[in-house]
Amino acid sequence: MGKTEHLQGDATGIVRAAELLSEGRLVALPTETVYGLAGDARCDHAVARIFDAKGRPSFNPLIVHLPDATGAARFVQWTKRAQALADAFWPGPLTLVLPLKYEHGLSPLVTAGLDTVALRVPAHPLAQAVLRAFGGPVAAPSANPSGRISPTTAAHVLAGLDGRIDAVMDGGACTVGVESTIVGLSGAPTLLRPGGIAPADIEAALGVPLALHDGAAITAPGQLGSHYAPGARVRLEVTQAQPGEVLIGFGAMECDLNLSPGGDLVEAAANLFHHLHAADRAEISGIAVAPVPETGLGLAINDRLRRAAAPRD
Ligand code: TXA
Ligand code: MG
Repeated sequence: MGKTEHLQGDATGIVRAAELLSEGRLVALPTETVYGLAGDARCDHAVARIFDAKGRPSFNPLIVHLPDATGAARFVQWTKRAQALADAFWPGPLTLVLPLKYEHGLSPLVTAGLDTVALRVPAHPLAQAVLRAFGGPVAAPSANPSGRISPTTAAHVLAGLDGRIDAVMDGGACTVGVESTIVGLSGAPTLLRPGGIAPADIEAALGVPLALHDGAAITAPGQLGSHYAPGARVRLEVTQAQPGEVLIGFGAMECDLNLSPGGDLVEAAANLFHHLHAADRAEISGIAVAPVPETGLGLAINDRLRRAAAPRD
């Protein structure tokens, strides 16, 4: 396809992004987690193009983005638990998976034929503005080639998808830096993907513990093994790099790039994909990453790192 338009995060850019979406075209938009590749979730053609641009397997469903919770009941069977989590965390880095209503109007490609759909209300002011200007549900996976490192700047998006999408809006660096936490609410509340909100905070808002995903039924990146993968080989739990390796550190230590010199997991999440992109240069022999504590946002960070280091097909 043709040239990718570069949109600024201003009134002109917002109007143009909404116009492109209503024409069934694809726009990469900033959200507080990562950049999303947005298309009209009701339009088969737009959704098919999202899968094509990313090289994403069509059995892996997409998240539908809305400007607020009020429209959610149009698509799903809304529940008290969904309302409690929406009150606590929307807009923000939380995605809820709920049973689809019979006449939902979404493209069946969005849900990959499942009888549930993932919904998210992003907090980023530009994502909010474009969703409101467009006025419809927006399907948006992370704006990266499938299986590769997620984008946290417009430059990352262009490095992976330039010429394959219609536009990218520049909203600077994402503040959360890892994708949303996904909670399944079609049965017992279940953690489907750790992400930008710590599971303990979700359990506190629900008043019940989250079940862990059993890995059997649903297709999520977790089941794809290798994901979020840089070109270079990745080694984990490393404190001493080998020659030619880039060492990504955490806390007070000598390293090439530090996720958070002060040992702050929120800062580390915001830097994670940024540092992986920066380290991933052709001339290096690999990327080594220091241990990161398995608490709070560390659960999401370690989940992404394990997939980045997983054996590749
Ligand atoms: O923060 C985020 O969630 C970002 C921004 C752009 O909103 N989006 C994102 O989308 O991470 P993506 O496509 O990279 O990841 C969506 C995940 C996939 O693992 C997919 O399998 C899962 O959501 N998913 C989507 N629909 C689902 C469903 N009905 N049931 C279970 N998992 C679902
Ligand atoms: Mg993704």
